[in-house]
Amino acid sequence: MDEVILRSERLTKSFGKFIAIDNIDLKFKSGIITSIIGPNGAGKTTAINLLTGALHPDKGKVFFKDKDITSLTPDQSVKHGITRSFQIMNIFPMLTVLQNVELPLLSLLGKNLKWFYAVSRYRDVAEEAEKILRELSLWDKRNKVAGELSHGDQRALEMGMAIAPKPEMCFLDEPSSGTNPLERASILELIKRLAEEGSTTFVIIEHDMDVVFSLSDWTIVMNKGKVLAEGEPDEIRQNKEVVEIYLGEEV
Ligand SMILES: Nc1ncnc2c1ncn2[C@@H]1O[C@H](COP(=O)(O)OP(=O)(O)OP(=O)(O)O)[C@@H](O)[C@H]1O
Ligand SMILES: [Mg+2]
Repeated sequence: MDEVILRSERLTKSFGKFIAIDNIDLKFKSGIITSIIGPNGAGKTTAINLLTGALHPDKGKVFFKDKDITSLTPDQSVKHGITRSFQIMNIFPMLTVLQNVELPLLSLLGKNLKWFYAVSRYRDVAEEAEKILRELSLWDKRNKVAGELSHGDQRALEMGMAIAPKPEMCFLDEPSSGTNPLERASILELIKRLAEEGSTTFVIIEHDMDVVFSLSDWTIVMNKGKVLAEGEPDEIRQNKEVVEIYLGEEV
């Protein structure tokens, strides 16, 4: 608990001449919920992409429990215990709810879609999928096509896909985006419960300040590819620079 589980050293990423991530050292402690906030274009998603193997840095390194994971692919990253969800919904709308959760479980075993029909041969997969869907309150909807779920349920399902492999670390990129206030509250509740019950360390990118301050133990504020400030939610709330640059009047 409370030790640094994942960190970056001098991480840098440019797109053409534009420096999206500018030489940053990030640190994430295990067993707490960290949120990353910052204005649009601050580099939050790019940072997650770099930490989870979706992108590779121009310079700098990423360490997971002191192992250099800078050049892992996303699949390898999952096998190391690091998963993520996406800012833009990333479920498989044509598959059933159940299949959406089975997929990451099967892929952890090196199996692909065609193995759905043999899921019964993988009792662990079937049992685990059921457990997750019950946790998400989606078990009753397991045979529905995922694209037919409400937006809030789709977001919950996406989270289920990210936590299915029982990751040590899970990055959620705006898990409540596009949801209504009721759905948002239930997603928030779900993350809280998962964090309390399981052994996954969560990092959440979030725009909704209520979510940030009620959910997270630590907040990192990014701006223009750099870390502007970090601290406990109360410190961040009172940080003048943060208020000026990002939070404005609403704090
Ligand atoms: N593949 C890419 N090619 C070119 N520019 C990119 C690419 N990905 C991101 N950028 C640029 O890098 C900057 C940071 O983008 P990023 O998506 O990381 O921001 P963000 O903090 O997640 O913003 P938001 O809150 O809008 O999601 C933006 O200016 C974006 O346009
Ligand atoms: Mg983003």
